[in-house]
Amino acid sequence: MSIKKIITVPNEILRKKSVTVEKIGKNEKVLIKNLFDTMYNSKGIGLAAVQIGIPKRIVVIDISKENENKSPLCLINPIIRQSSKETSVYEEGCLSIPDTFLDIERPKIINIEYINIDGKKKEIQCDGLLSTCIQHEIQHCDGKLIIDFLSKLKKDILIKKLKKKSTSKITV
Ligand code: NI
Repeated sequence: MSIKKIITVPNEILRKKSVTVEKIGKNEKVLIKNLFDTMYNSKGIGLAAVQIGIPKRIVVIDISKENENKSPLCLINPIIRQSSKETSVYEEGCLSIPDTFLDIERPKIINIEYINIDGKKKEIQCDGLLSTCIQHEIQHCDGKLIIDFLSKLKKDILIKKLKKKSTSKITV
Protein backbone atom coordinates (compact mmCIF):
# COMPACT_ATOMS: atom_id res chain seq x y z
CA MET A 1 0.00 0.00 0.00
CA SER A 2 1.45 3.27 -1.04
CA ILE A 3 -0.47 6.47 -0.56
CA LYS A 4 0.96 9.45 -2.39
CA LYS A 5 0.54 13.12 -1.75
CA ILE A 6 -2.09 14.70 -3.98
CA ILE A 7 -0.92 17.91 -5.62
CA THR A 8 -3.27 20.86 -5.29
CA VAL A 9 -3.79 24.18 -7.08
CA PRO A 10 -2.02 26.44 -7.85
CA ASN A 11 0.85 23.94 -8.39
CA GLU A 12 1.85 24.28 -12.04
CA ILE A 13 2.37 20.53 -12.50
CA LEU A 14 -1.40 20.26 -12.75
CA ARG A 15 -1.23 22.39 -15.91
CA LYS A 16 1.17 20.02 -17.66
CA LYS A 17 -0.10 18.02 -20.61
CA SER A 18 0.47 14.38 -19.73
CA VAL A 19 2.41 12.18 -22.13
CA THR A 20 1.09 9.10 -23.91
CA VAL A 21 2.08 5.80 -22.32
CA GLU A 22 4.10 3.72 -24.79
CA LYS A 23 4.53 0.60 -22.70
CA ILE A 24 2.94 -0.79 -19.56
CA GLY A 25 5.95 -1.97 -17.58
CA LYS A 26 6.66 -2.46 -13.92
CA ASN A 27 6.79 1.29 -13.23
CA GLU A 28 3.38 1.85 -14.76
CA LYS A 29 1.88 -1.06 -12.80
CA VAL A 30 3.25 0.32 -9.53
CA LEU A 31 1.95 3.75 -10.48
CA ILE A 32 -1.54 2.34 -11.14
CA LYS A 33 -1.55 0.54 -7.77
CA ASN A 34 -0.45 3.75 -6.04
CA LEU A 35 -3.16 5.73 -7.82
CA PHE A 36 -5.86 3.34 -6.62
CA ASP A 37 -4.48 3.34 -3.06
CA THR A 38 -4.33 7.14 -3.02
CA MET A 39 -7.79 7.56 -4.55
CA TYR A 40 -9.47 5.13 -2.15
CA ASN A 41 -7.67 6.68 0.79
CA SER A 42 -9.00 10.13 -0.15
CA LYS A 43 -12.49 8.80 -0.87
CA GLY A 44 -12.34 10.16 -4.41
CA ILE A 45 -14.02 8.54 -7.40
CA GLY A 46 -11.26 9.35 -9.86
CA LEU A 47 -7.59 10.28 -9.94
CA ALA A 48 -5.17 11.08 -12.74
CA ALA A 49 -1.44 10.30 -12.53
CA VAL A 50 -0.54 13.97 -12.92
CA GLN A 51 -2.31 14.65 -9.61
CA ILE A 52 0.43 12.72 -7.83
CA GLY A 53 3.08 14.47 -9.90
CA ILE A 54 3.52 11.97 -12.74
CA PRO A 55 2.29 13.45 -16.02
CA LYS A 56 1.46 10.21 -17.84
CA ARG A 57 -1.92 9.57 -19.44
CA ILE A 58 -3.19 7.16 -16.81
CA VAL A 59 -6.36 7.58 -14.77
CA VAL A 60 -8.12 5.41 -12.23
CA ILE A 61 -11.81 5.53 -11.47
CA ASP A 62 -14.25 3.81 -9.15
CA ILE A 63 -17.74 5.23 -8.94
CA SER A 64 -19.15 2.46 -6.73
CA LYS A 65 -20.82 3.55 -3.51
CA GLU A 66 -19.37 2.71 -0.11
CA ASN A 67 -21.86 -0.11 0.51
CA GLU A 68 -21.29 -1.65 -2.94
CA ASN A 69 -18.55 -3.91 -4.27
CA LYS A 70 -15.57 -2.00 -5.61
CA SER A 71 -15.46 -1.57 -9.37
CA PRO A 72 -11.98 -0.29 -10.19
CA LEU A 73 -11.40 0.96 -13.71
CA CYS A 74 -8.00 1.95 -15.07
CA LEU A 75 -7.78 3.87 -18.32
CA ILE A 76 -4.47 4.26 -20.11
CA ASN A 77 -4.28 6.81 -22.96
CA PRO A 78 -8.05 7.42 -22.90
CA ILE A 79 -9.50 9.27 -25.89
CA ILE A 80 -13.04 10.51 -26.39
CA ARG A 81 -14.24 9.38 -29.82
CA GLN A 82 -17.79 10.68 -29.65
CA SER A 83 -19.81 12.86 -27.34
CA SER A 84 -23.55 13.36 -27.25
CA LYS A 85 -25.23 16.68 -27.90
CA GLU A 86 -27.35 16.04 -24.86
CA THR A 87 -25.67 17.27 -21.71
CA SER A 88 -25.92 16.66 -18.00
CA VAL A 89 -24.91 18.70 -15.00
CA TYR A 90 -23.17 17.37 -11.90
CA GLU A 91 -21.80 19.19 -8.92
CA GLU A 92 -18.13 18.29 -9.23
CA GLY A 93 -15.31 18.41 -6.76
CA CYS A 94 -11.65 17.67 -7.36
CA LEU A 95 -9.03 16.20 -5.03
CA SER A 96 -6.62 18.86 -6.31
CA ILE A 97 -8.96 21.74 -5.42
CA PRO A 98 -9.90 21.47 -1.74
CA ASP A 99 -13.44 22.32 -0.57
CA THR A 100 -14.64 23.52 -3.95
CA PHE A 101 -17.72 22.21 -5.72
CA LEU A 102 -18.94 23.53 -9.04
CA ASP A 103 -21.89 22.70 -11.26
CA ILE A 104 -20.34 21.57 -14.53
CA GLU A 105 -22.25 20.87 -17.73
CA ARG A 106 -20.75 18.18 -19.96
CA PRO A 107 -21.88 15.83 -22.74
CA LYS A 108 -24.12 13.17 -21.21
CA ILE A 109 -22.89 10.18 -23.20
CA ILE A 110 -19.38 9.58 -24.50
CA ASN A 111 -17.66 6.83 -26.44
CA ILE A 112 -14.08 6.32 -25.40
CA GLU A 113 -11.12 4.26 -26.46
CA TYR A 114 -8.36 3.32 -24.04
CA ILE A 115 -5.76 0.69 -23.20
CA ASN A 116 -6.39 -1.46 -20.15
CA ILE A 117 -3.78 -2.63 -17.65
CA ASP A 118 -3.14 -5.76 -19.76
CA GLY A 119 -2.30 -3.61 -22.76
CA LYS A 120 -5.55 -4.41 -24.57
CA LYS A 121 -7.38 -1.78 -26.59
CA LYS A 122 -10.92 -1.24 -25.34
CA GLU A 123 -13.94 0.77 -26.43
CA ILE A 124 -16.81 1.63 -24.15
CA GLN A 125 -19.83 3.88 -24.03
CA CYS A 126 -20.45 5.69 -20.76
CA ASP A 127 -23.38 7.60 -19.40
CA GLY A 128 -24.22 9.43 -16.19
CA LEU A 129 -21.70 9.80 -13.40
CA LEU A 130 -19.12 7.56 -15.11
CA SER A 131 -19.19 9.71 -18.24
CA THR A 132 -18.71 12.89 -16.21
CA CYS A 133 -15.95 11.37 -14.12
CA ILE A 134 -14.02 10.14 -17.18
CA GLN A 135 -14.30 13.55 -18.86
CA HIS A 136 -13.03 15.22 -15.67
CA GLU A 137 -10.02 12.86 -15.51
CA ILE A 138 -9.17 13.17 -19.21
CA GLN A 139 -9.10 16.93 -18.73
CA HIS A 140 -6.53 16.44 -15.96
CA CYS A 141 -4.35 14.66 -18.55
CA ASP A 142 -4.62 17.79 -20.69
CA GLY A 143 -3.79 20.16 -17.85
CA LYS A 144 -7.36 21.40 -17.47
CA LEU A 145 -9.26 21.82 -14.23
CA ILE A 146 -12.90 22.39 -13.30
CA ILE A 147 -12.08 25.96 -12.29
CA ASP A 148 -11.39 26.64 -15.98
CA PHE A 149 -15.15 26.50 -16.50
CA LEU A 150 -15.44 29.70 -14.44
CA SER A 151 -15.03 33.23 -15.72
CA LYS A 152 -11.51 34.62 -15.32
CA LEU A 153 -12.61 36.90 -12.50
CA LYS A 154 -14.26 34.13 -10.49
CA LYS A 155 -11.31 31.85 -11.13
CA ASP A 156 -8.78 34.45 -9.92
CA ILE A 157 -10.76 35.04 -6.72
CA LEU A 158 -10.97 31.31 -6.04
CA ILE A 159 -7.25 30.71 -6.65
CA LYS A 160 -6.36 33.60 -4.36
CA LYS A 161 -8.54 32.08 -1.66
CA LEU A 162 -6.96 28.65 -2.12
CA LYS A 163 -3.44 30.10 -2.08
CA LYS A 164 -4.14 31.78 1.22
CA LYS A 165 -5.48 28.56 2.62
CA SER A 166 -2.47 26.49 1.59
CA THR A 167 0.02 28.94 3.05
CA SER A 168 -1.74 29.86 6.27
CA LYS A 169 0.00 28.43 9.28
CA ILE A 170 -0.85 28.58 12.92
CA THR A 171 1.72 29.57 15.47
CA VAL A 172 1.05 28.51 18.99
NI1 NI B 1 -9.98 16.26 -10.32
